[in-house]
Amino acid sequence: MPNQQINDALNGQIASEFASWYSYLAMSAWCSREQLSGCAGWLRAQAQEEYTHAMKIYEFLLDRDVEVRLSPLEAPRETFASIVEIFESALHQEQENTKRIDELFHMAMEQKAFASLVELQWFVTEQVEEEKTARTNLARIKMIADDPAAILDFDNALGERTLPMDTSPQ
Ligand SMILES: [Fe+2]
Ligand SMILES: [Fe+2]
Repeated sequence: MPNQQINDALNGQIASEFASWYSYLAMSAWCSREQLSGCAGWLRAQAQEEYTHAMKIYEFLLDRDVEVRLSPLEAPRETFASIVEIFESALHQEQENTKRIDELFHMAMEQKAFASLVELQWFVTEQVEEEKTARTNLARIKMIADDPAAILDFDNALGERTLPMDTSPQ
């Protein structure tokens, strides 16, 4: 089958995006328990965004009549020492994902898998934005780490992000 290798790798990327979804959800739960509801909401929205990334590749494979294979998800990290560690972990996660996307892009180029290349271009651009946001959040939380009042202001500001999807119970 043509482009088997890139198709397998794209199935792998679906799992990576779902792993990010799960991981941001765990970070959100940690923040909720620490009474940082703004950060919790922001991370929950971020988790939803990762879900949409996974589904974007899922749709792409189906559109091209490629078999979708969903792998088991590992439990995400659930313990963090501080809110700073949450945002360190978020940046690290995005940097790792950028590496995976870059490798996929390279593979698609080598295999002359043009449709995959164009699809992946969206992810290359998205990762620039994802890393920028993660870097900004980390820098800001580090600046104010010892100031509880400033952390609450930061929490309120992040809480203004709206959820991409309505997932409230019906
Ligand atoms: Fe993503
Ligand atoms: Fe991301």
